[in-house]
Amino acid sequence: MAVEMVRFKNIGLRGVTVADTKISYIDGENGVLIYRGYRIEELAERSTFMETAFLLLNGRLPDKSQLERFEERVLQARELPGFILESMEKFPRRTDPMDVLESCVPMLAMADPELSDDSREANVRKAIRLIARIPATIAAWNRIRNGQKPLPPESALSHAANFLWQLSGQKPTEEIARDLDICLVLHADHTFNASTFACREVVSTNAHMYAGVAAGVGALSGSLHGGANERVMKMLLQVESELASVDDVGPWVKNTIDSGRKIMGMGHAVYKTFDPRAKILKEMSRRLTREAGHPEWYEYLVKIEEEGIKEFSARGKPGINTNVDFYSGSVYSAMGIPVDIMTPIFAISRISGWCAHIIEEKFAEAQEKPALYRPEAEYVGNYCGAVGCAYESMDARG
Ligand SMILES: CC(C)(COP(=O)(O)OP(=O)(O)OC[C@H]1O[C@@H](n2cnc3c(N)ncnc32)[C@H](O)[C@@H]1OP(=O)(O)O)[C@@H](O)C(=O)NCCC(=O)NCCS
Repeated sequence: MAVEMVRFKNIGLRGVTVADTKISYIDGENGVLIYRGYRIEELAERSTFMETAFLLLNGRLPDKSQLERFEERVLQARELPGFILESMEKFPRRTDPMDVLESCVPMLAMADPELSDDSREANVRKAIRLIARIPATIAAWNRIRNGQKPLPPESALSHAANFLWQLSGQKPTEEIARDLDICLVLHADHTFNASTFACREVVSTNAHMYAGVAAGVGALSGSLHGGANERVMKMLLQVESELASVDDVGPWVKNTIDSGRKIMGMGHAVYKTFDPRAKILKEMSRRLTREAGHPEWYEYLVKIEEEGIKEFSARGKPGINTNVDFYSGSVYSAMGIPVDIMTPIFAISRISGWCAHIIEEKFAEAQEKPALYRPEAEYVGNYCGAVGCAYESMDARG
């Protein structure tokens, strides 16, 4: 009797709950994102990235002295070990910053004096070092690849301002530093997305935090995940150069979808309505692109968004809206940040969420998560029964 199988019901683990988490929650139907119970809109307006990172790692908002101590510890950890800078000097100059980051995370592990201590307290200290050193790594690489010397951190500057200073050698205005800080708050966590799940999957084997983070960086680099923001910016620049005016955006959107290409920055695996982060970034993009002398970037983006939503609805796919990556590229470009540093900025923020999830993964109660993630796959390859296929000698192979 033939066995009928319902295959790929949950392809890509969509809709499958694999663990409990207390860190963040998305209501994809209603466009809601919360970190540890707090709405993203309120955190973006009233919190800072340092406070949000503390919240994600510790499960509660800090009081004044706890926040000051946390900020001081991040500040103290900003300096990169010399051997990492020396290694970077030997990297090919054209290396993508995400590849540099992915290679440097294990080097940060080598430099960690507490690597073999897997206690909760030691993991929180490792998280603080990673939060401090990921921006330093990216900024140093940007200098080195341009033939410049990496800059030492500036203790008077906030986390976001210091990154912009170490990246470009220019101290940003307070407004720009605050805008970047808000972007970091917005990107800090997003439940079991691809990179966070990669981190958790790796440390579920008892691997250390840095092994998990290296996997997270790799997952984030892909164009369907964190890599989308720079692809949106490339798409925007291409549209701007190829189209005569925004009036041509409608046919361009139709043609892009017809030819099977993606409108970058639209659609989401979980949100089936607006992404609350995109709303905040949209307003920031409107303001910053105007200030930077590129109001047309915003105009093109708004038109692509409008035409995209209309077109997807007409094709029976009404839930496809703009996501977090759609407006962030124009925001970073307006700040003067190079296109290939946009995905690394995602990592500068998401490191806080990754570390919170890694700690949760390592210390959750047994009933809250599996000891080790181990999904099944449907085998659809050659099969010759239990005896196996006949192994032919080299001469006999056609
Ligand atoms: C994020 C993404 C991978 C989600 O994929 P998904 O969950 O499979 O998306 P959906 O199930 O909503 O897609 C349904 C259909 O819409 C299409 N679709 C989704 N997003 C699209 C986009 N941005 N452009 C064109 N078509 C899109 C899919 O190809 C699919 O078409 P099909 O049914 O004919 O095969 C997808 O929307 C995408 O690739 N977006 C562009 C990249 C991006 O912005 N990534 C950042 C995410 S934060």
